[in-house]
Amino acid sequence: MKEFHDLADFQTGQIDALLELAGRLETNPEPQALAGKVLALLFLSPSLRTLASFQAAMTRLGGGSFVISPNMSIHGLETRSGIVMDGMAAEHIREAVPVIASYGDAIGIRAFAERESLEDDLADKQFNELRELCDIPKINMESAINHPCQSLADWKTMNDLNIPQQGGKFVLSWAYHPRALPLAVPSATVHMAAMRGMDVTVLRPEGFELPEAVMHKAKQAAATSGGSISETADRAAALEGAHIIYAKSWSSTRHYGDNPADEELRHGLEDWCIDEPWFATAQENARFMHCLPVRRGVVVADRILDGPRSVVIQEARNRMYAQMAVLHQMLRN
Ligand code: CP
Repeated sequence: MKEFHDLADFQTGQIDALLELAGRLETNPEPQALAGKVLALLFLSPSLRTLASFQAAMTRLGGGSFVISPNMSIHGLETRSGIVMDGMAAEHIREAVPVIASYGDAIGIRAFAERESLEDDLADKQFNELRELCDIPKINMESAINHPCQSLADWKTMNDLNIPQQGGKFVLSWAYHPRALPLAVPSATVHMAAMRGMDVTVLRPEGFELPEAVMHKAKQAAATSGGSISETADRAAALEGAHIIYAKSWSSTRHYGDNPADEELRHGLEDWCIDEPWFATAQENARFMHCLPVRRGVVVADRILDGPRSVVIQEARNRMYAQMAVLHQMLRN
């Protein structure tokens, strides 16, 4: 494997093989598999899980890793193209990325959503510019429109819990958040659940429709897998029979990049906070999923996060096993 950028680049059988490997590495560790290998990790936006789980994954496989992020004591990093660097930044990403890559056998890159142009973010413009700067194997650790590592871990989590693939009902629900957040996780998640063959409903208030391109990609995955995709603002209809309620906030695509307009649109939507009544007509043992970090009492009630429905810690732990499988396939000789 030369690149782990998007689950859509793989056949379902290849994902199944990755998840089988993840499960094998979970029960039968291979502490020398990647001895002598180095993973470079470049974070252009904050992280807890991705940073820690990649480092832990490499260590558990016998390799090593190093982390570079702008808030470390490195020279200020300039990311804009065609700029005269007469400000604070002393180093351009165009030199920094190939230098960092030259120390590693593979590189993980976390970019961020500029959230200025929906078109640019849907095209993953910044991440694609970064990935052009080096020619070693690359892992997308979250870009403007994708988070394949999260999706692989979420797929494993549902497999671990025996959540049905065909006939399993997956609700991706918008949740309130005081700030406009990127589209990476909702885009990746709706595609992942469709590719897994589930009946996927995107539940969101008016104005927070996912972009057409995101829905189109998910529909294509559903057509291949035998799943289905729908989108609604009708909470009662969406939640009936759900096996999974996956919460995430995202910015309004109608007002993409316009924070005041987005803020006005989300005003009054504070009741989009997942709580026990949301599960009233769901499957009896329906689960709550979220990629974390999550704001307690805003996105989801404490009693859900602290109760038996929540699988958020399993999802986070599965990040490590899923990424061990990716690294194993990418770097094992
Ligand atoms: N879910 C996730 O990617 O978490 P971090 O932002 O902490 O890495």
